[in-house]
Amino acid sequence: MESNEVIQAKLKETTEALSKQKEVLHQTSGFLESVLENSKDIIFRTNLDGALVFFGKGGESALGYTWEELSGSAVKDLAEKPPDLERLVYSCLKDKAVIHREITFRHKNGSAVHCRMALVPLFNTREEVIGMAGVCRDVTAWRKFKEDLIRVDRLAEVGRIASGVVHELNNPVAVIGEIAGWIGAVASDAEGLDEGDREELKTSVRHIGEQTKRCRNITGQLLSFVRESKLTTTSLDAHELLKETVNLLTPELKFTDVEIVFNFVQGPVFIDSDKQLLEQVFVNFISNAVYAVKDKGDKRGRITLATSLNNSGESPTVEIKISDTGVGISKADQEKIYKYFFTTKPPGKGTGLGLPISRNIIKNLGGSLSFESEPGKGTTFNIRLPISRALHVSQTGS
Ligand SMILES: Nc1ncnc2c1ncn2[C@@H]1O[C@H](COP(=O)(O)OP(=O)(O)OP(=O)(O)O)[C@@H](O)[C@H]1O
Ligand SMILES: [Mg+2]
Repeated sequence: MESNEVIQAKLKETTEALSKQKEVLHQTSGFLESVLENSKDIIFRTNLDGALVFFGKGGESALGYTWEELSGSAVKDLAEKPPDLERLVYSCLKDKAVIHREITFRHKNGSAVHCRMALVPLFNTREEVIGMAGVCRDVTAWRKFKEDLIRVDRLAEVGRIASGVVHELNNPVAVIGEIAGWIGAVASDAEGLDEGDREELKTSVRHIGEQTKRCRNITGQLLSFVRESKLTTTSLDAHELLKETVNLLTPELKFTDVEIVFNFVQGPVFIDSDKQLLEQVFVNFISNAVYAVKDKGDKRGRITLATSLNNSGESPTVEIKISDTGVGISKADQEKIYKYFFTTKPPGKGTGLGLPISRNIIKNLGGSLSFESEPGKGTTFNIRLPISRALHVSQTGS
């Protein structure tokens, strides 16, 4: 029989061990609580039926549900495809195995939340399964980033192919254009043609000329977009360039009832840019406006080119508004107009490159672009571009 002292010593030892264990337990549960409180991951626990008995704060913000709303409900119902998650839950509980999978949950607002998920079986002291824990990391943004990368890569590849094709097409098209011009000249005084045939031939040749010009426009746009050549930046007067662009488009404006109105601030407005590039931007917007007005068939169509200065921000900008009274852009199309190859024009009339390329150029010049459009009434494109120091200095009078 053990003496009283021995028993007391053992009791003390056990009490100390127990209190140490209690402390470890306290620290562990504090640690767990802190992880569960602060983790951005979706962390949950279920019973053997796959019903939720715990759902962490991270899950609440990732999926938009509160714990009160979810308590006791089946975890599978959180998934976009419940039977898929149900199968995984079942095999985790039955096979007592950890499962790693990608799964899509549905946010309360209906949007998809893509997650990398780990399901872990939970055991009691007798090694019996009592439920499972799930830890899911929201990888929606990462997935979108990956998809964007693939798309960008594909686009770059298309760009490389396009630039090759365009190079190859450029010369034959130029030759066709020149020959058409020559045939036109020959047809004017060719003998043996009656007047009717001569006119028909001249019209056909003119069409060839117009269409080759159009092809060269398209190839030119694509080439300027993909070329790696050095751009020559000079200080350009935006007013001058806008007027030049309208002159350039005069053939397109012939035989139309489009009135062009200039509404410029006084004096020149200088922009540091490559002339051809900026001209390309203006051509795109003005010819879109011309087309929209013609498309409406309005006898009193108008295009207004207006400029205004904004000196309030860090660097002064010019706002160039190109407004038309054309057909306008439908609400559905408004989301698509900056997409490559989006066009509502009939085949042969539009390639759907003007706006996306122009937007890119404007961005590269440090500017921004927006538009307002009312179907049936017209459209205004707003181009904001930084103006060069020269103007800024002359404006402040120094
Ligand atoms: N001023 C405008 N009024 C009405 N719709 C417009 C206007 N500008 C652009 N759009 C719409 O946006 C589409 C895309 O324009 P974008 O300039 O990119 O291509 P496109 O003019 O069709 O072809 P491209 O410019 O390559 O010859 C047009 O087809 C048209 O539907
Ligand atoms: Mg266009």
